[in-house]
Amino acid sequence: MALLPILHYPDPRLHKVAAPVKQVDDKIVQLIKDMGETMYAAPGIGLAATQVDVHLRLLVIDISETHDQLQVFINPEIIRAEGEAECEEGCLSVPGIFEKVTRAARVVVSAMDQHGQQRTVEAEGLLAVCIQHEMDHLLGKVFVEKLSRLKQQRIAARLAKQQRQAM
Ligand code: NI
Repeated sequence: MALLPILHYPDPRLHKVAAPVKQVDDKIVQLIKDMGETMYAAPGIGLAATQVDVHLRLLVIDISETHDQLQVFINPEIIRAEGEAECEEGCLSVPGIFEKVTRAARVVVSAMDQHGQQRTVEAEGLLAVCIQHEMDHLLGKVFVEKLSRLKQQRIAARLAKQQRQAM
């Protein structure tokens, strides 16, 4: 297993659109393990392959307090979305930034798991937020891009300052 480097906004590679996974082979299984380990180490509750510079439709989520309930979504598709809910979001690719985002309150998602089994997941609350946030990554979208232009400018300035301080 290995920790994978996480791309940081505004890295242009975060804007690549991911391609479907053709087959859940050994390489994909290894990628899932590495992404899980990377997410837990960060620590975070969700990670899309895009964030580790692998442009395949694959994401991992664990919203449990015990950090032992890894959920894998391969080629996820939202088949139903209902309601509206606002939630404060953060992202491993945008460290230290937390902003409120409005999304669907409930989603029904169809995806394959790590065994290649197709399944349907009904989600609400934090899991629904997390699935939608990570699926945006697969389309090359980062959550801060849903905010107002003014807020985006403030975030860009803050991130630039953080980077200068880290050097
Ligand atoms: Ni994110």
